[in-house]
Amino acid sequence: MYRTHTCGELRLEHAGESATLSGWVQRSRDLGGMTFVDLRDRYGITQLIFNMDENEDLCRQARKLGREYVIRASGIVTERSKKNPKMLTGDIEILVTELNILKAAEVPPFTIENDTDGGDELRMKYRYMDLRRPSIRKNMELRHRMAQEVRRYLDSRGFLEIETPFLIKSTPEGARDFIVPSRMNEGQFYALPQSPQTFKQLLMVAGYDKYFQIVRCFRDEDLRADRQPEFTQIDCEMSFVERDDVLDAFEGLTKHLFREVLSVEIEGTFEKMPYSQAMEEYGTDKPDLRFEMKISELTSLAKGKGFRVFDEAEYIGAICAEGCAGYSRKELDGLTDFVTRPQIGAKGLIHARCNGDGSFKSSVDKFFNQDELKAWAEQLKAAPGDLILILAGEKESTRKALSELRLEMGNRLGLRIMDTYRPLWVVDFPLLEWNEESQRFHAMHHPFTSPKIEDLALFDSDPGKVRANAYDLVINGVEIGGGSIRIHDTDLQKLMFKNLGFTEEEARKQFGFLINAFRYGAPPHGGIAFGFDRWVALFAGLDSIRDVIAFPKNNSGRDVMIDTPSDVSEEQLDELRLQRKK
Ligand code: AMO
Repeated sequence: MYRTHTCGELRLEHAGESATLSGWVQRSRDLGGMTFVDLRDRYGITQLIFNMDENEDLCRQARKLGREYVIRASGIVTERSKKNPKMLTGDIEILVTELNILKAAEVPPFTIENDTDGGDELRMKYRYMDLRRPSIRKNMELRHRMAQEVRRYLDSRGFLEIETPFLIKSTPEGARDFIVPSRMNEGQFYALPQSPQTFKQLLMVAGYDKYFQIVRCFRDEDLRADRQPEFTQIDCEMSFVERDDVLDAFEGLTKHLFREVLSVEIEGTFEKMPYSQAMEEYGTDKPDLRFEMKISELTSLAKGKGFRVFDEAEYIGAICAEGCAGYSRKELDGLTDFVTRPQIGAKGLIHARCNGDGSFKSSVDKFFNQDELKAWAEQLKAAPGDLILILAGEKESTRKALSELRLEMGNRLGLRIMDTYRPLWVVDFPLLEWNEESQRFHAMHHPFTSPKIEDLALFDSDPGKVRANAYDLVINGVEIGGGSIRIHDTDLQKLMFKNLGFTEEEARKQFGFLINAFRYGAPPHGGIAFGFDRWVALFAGLDSIRDVIAFPKNNSGRDVMIDTPSDVSEEQLDELRLQRKK
């Protein structure tokens, strides 16, 4: 028998019993006539003790154990004379009477501890050892728990878990596809799904009115902390629903996960914020509502007073940092450096201090008198002691920069409090977005997203203004999920394709199977997909989704452990009738 207990199990009440444990050597130390070995497995660490006086041979054997050796040890559970309250098993140790080395190990390339000395690349190369570290193991356990709770909740609400294929058809919209050559169909390719979108809609046509799947999706796009080329969605779809039916159903799932996994009770219904309001007040479609500091527009107040930067700007906007009027020159320079970084791209930062005596001191005093600065302060509801931070330029990019500045100030002022959660629905996204490169509209979501019926007339006059019946779940500034009510009316779908610049022929070629299916009885339907990795990272309090994925890719899309992407043999290429381009 390899083990009677795990390394996290034994307590004082087991004292006097015999036990056998198996695991990895975390560390060992010799103190006089004693050797202490910390034995680790998934469940914890138990101290083993070898006594030179009682069994010299065994003690000598123990002294040869290296880090990460896999061993089995049997002995008697004994109360420790010096207890360790930091360890769950810290009241006991095992006085070992039998030791077997199951597998010797080479010296690990980094320490297998939460606070490791291993850099990112090294940890990824030896991910199987990295996964032994308790902090990563905790993330895997959290991910498992969340997946179980998702299944439990959706099952209890009548949702069916149905798998959809991974080898599908390449479609032009959205991110780039990963494509897979077909051996049996010369010159033809499959694509890996960016999401099961069309299949879940077909399942609605098939009558499976509540579907879900925890499913891998593949997108060949530039990577960031919150993006992986393969990631996992909780993908869902429902029939005979309107928007609020979907939102209610998944607000239920969200609250369930918070309650069961984090023991956090989210009170009341989630706020529904139109996209336009989110952009105006927070400069982003994923606002972090843990703190206020809303953006105020100053364009009409600040333009036309002879200050060139403002006069030439399409948009002038500001935030008010409470209690920051005393910021030093150095602190303000630091903020200027922050907003002018290439990723943020502002040209400069203007500030106005609201002094304790009600007067103002700004970096543009030459152009604006006290009354004018007072009007800004009123617009921003700034009080004495506050600092007004202003950016100007092209509307969209300036709002984006203000949004970044707001988050930075939120961080500096400690307003983005961990363990506080502010979920909201962002609704009424634009249906279409103009693409400069192709000089046509693209679907902001996907071509099956329904417009809001009251906006249909705008298709003729101003298609960019048509709003979609689409929604995102945003929690603490993270886009956790997104979905929409779908088009199920043939004429409306035709109108949509027309606005996206598809000819009927092209639409049929790309989406013929779905258009066809809709001719045979399509129910009204809608759904949503959640980024599971992002949700786990949020619950774990992490910014990067890499730490919640067992075997992630690096920022160049490589798996440095198995060393892929990699070359394939000429034979494989021949079989696929593919040739390398020189
Ligand atoms: P969408 O493209 O918004 O919608 O994706 C849904 C959610 O998936 C997560 N996500 C990602 N997570 C990690 N890495 C990525 N590269 C990545 N891309 C997206 C986000 C996002 O909110 N079929 C539609 C859903 C629907 O309409 O029902 C879809 O895929 O958290």
